[in-house]
Amino acid sequence: MKFRIVGDQKPITGHISMPGDKSIAHRGTLFSALAKGKTTLHNFPTGIDNLTSLAMVESLGVGLMPQPKGVLKLRSPGSGRLTPSTQTFDCLNSGTTARILGGLLVGQQLQGIIVGDSSLSQRPMDRIATPLQDMGALIRAEGRNGTLPLRVENADLVGTELRLEVASAQVKTAVLLAGLGAQGITRVSEPGQSRDHSERMLREMGAPIRFGPGYAEVTGPFHNFRPLTLHIPGDPSSAAFFAVLAALRPESDLFIENILLSPTRAGYLRVLQRMGAQIEVRNARTQSGEQIGDIRVQGSRLQATEITPDEIPGLIDELPILAVAMSLAQGTSAVHGAKELRYKESDRIKAVVKGLRDFGVKADEAMDGYVIEGSESLQSAEPDPQKDHRLVMAFTIAAALARGASLIQHADAAGISYPDFSDDLANLGIAIRIYQGN
Ligand code: S3P
Repeated sequence: MKFRIVGDQKPITGHISMPGDKSIAHRGTLFSALAKGKTTLHNFPTGIDNLTSLAMVESLGVGLMPQPKGVLKLRSPGSGRLTPSTQTFDCLNSGTTARILGGLLVGQQLQGIIVGDSSLSQRPMDRIATPLQDMGALIRAEGRNGTLPLRVENADLVGTELRLEVASAQVKTAVLLAGLGAQGITRVSEPGQSRDHSERMLREMGAPIRFGPGYAEVTGPFHNFRPLTLHIPGDPSSAAFFAVLAALRPESDLFIENILLSPTRAGYLRVLQRMGAQIEVRNARTQSGEQIGDIRVQGSRLQATEITPDEIPGLIDELPILAVAMSLAQGTSAVHGAKELRYKESDRIKAVVKGLRDFGVKADEAMDGYVIEGSESLQSAEPDPQKDHRLVMAFTIAAALARGASLIQHADAAGISYPDFSDDLANLGIAIRIYQGN
């Protein structure tokens, strides 16, 4: 599938809401396997990655109960009683599913082989295998350079103390899930604060967990998890595409409702505000243990900024769309300390720089980031988003801001996290057409 977009400068106005947050939905689904009884997830997003986590818990023996659209009811026999119906767990494109499932299998003393598509099969898995081995787990990343397939065999576990070199919520979560099946205390600390949805959800489920800035600690073994009824807030990583579009179109006035505002995820709002974007948070409140609210974004002229290494964990997934904002800001912007971008669904440093150059922007790669010179306008382009959902959407927004008609290849990848992306854009008046085939 391709998107053809004709850019213009019309203001973006109205109210929109986003699909449920992908990270929280992954955890709600995967953790439901641990809780005996019925877990209910409201505003469950239907992106392929989240459906992949759902398929994985079904393979573990969790039952799915019929519900109206947007609600998911799952019934599990609970921790210590899971009976997988398969040995092979195909996580397709989803790194979060693969890594958290690795920790779940280990913690539940189950066996299996985790595999994925060609992109996921190139991503590092030794980052979970190595710390889990330190706890006594029999887990091996059998691919070249520590990649999939990930083979897990049943073993007894002991708690560990792990200091991560790079902040990672996926690694932290895998180790905590293993820790809940291990004897004693398992403590994970990280150099920055990655998203803390696992910690909050495990606490709501009654697990013995303590956490604070940069650390989390569980005591195992523990099996008595409470099933949750969870209201999943709108995904801030999806909202960021619309926030940047509205911030860059003069006279825009857009309300994005019920968005997750966790400080561990709201880094993009702080950066946009510092660039001069007019963004207001309204109706801030707490829901299912997380901060949420509405945001109002008005169009203005943006200024260049530098993103520093300490900011990266709080906006890692938003860097591609922030690069689009930088490409239309006044002055030269830079991103530092973001080497992790090279290990996402694509090498996002290389792909972002190349894509922006196609739009006529001066951009240069660094080992751990990039430098972007702001332009007055973008030219139309046919960039290669590398079948990476966030790049498809970031380049689509760049196209909506460019002069003339652009083509985005492999646009179906948007469905990994946001199947209604093109419909939502069309409803805001963006001239977007869909062509089947690539
Ligand atoms: C995620 C954590 C981040 C993020 C990914 C989702 C999660 O990855 O980039 O899209 O839900 O835990 P890392 O843990 O590799 O930083």
